[in-house]
Amino acid sequence: PTVFILNGPNLNLLGQRQPEIYGSVTLADIERDCDALGRELGLQTRFFQSNHEGVIVDTIHEARQQAQGIIINPAAFSHTSVAVLDALNTFDGPVIEVHISNIHKREAFRHHSYVSLRAEGVIAGLGVEGYQLALRRMASLLG
Ligand code: DQA
Repeated sequence: PTVFILNGPNLNLLGQRQPEIYGSVTLADIERDCDALGRELGLQTRFFQSNHEGVIVDTIHEARQQAQGIIINPAAFSHTSVAVLDALNTFDGPVIEVHISNIHKREAFRHHSYVSLRAEGVIAGLGVEGYQLALRRMASLLG
């Protein structure tokens, strides 16, 4: 099975961006670790990042044909985007939502996520390890 791992706006700056909140690991590090764990779990992972809402919607549409599961850190679009939620609702397989930080411990506007209405589960505040945990859960859901 193939799993798309999607990342929203500003996550390209991971490692440089507010390291006190998001840590020093880069998105390239996460991609490499997901690729390695995916192999162990028998999953092919495809990793994406975009700062553009429409590109994320388009990539979710591609997942309809190309992926069995989606792991998504929608970043700020979690809190704003009905379009990303609607796109995920066109996808048949499991969706797992990841946030590096604990969004519930932060500003009130981060407490609500549209994407959570569609997600099987949400991982928040477990740092970049959240991606690995999501991948393990995805392997059980698809296995
Ligand atoms: C985030 C949390 C969001 O509130 C924020 O806008 C992000 C990253 C996280 O991974 O903790 O960009 O999704």
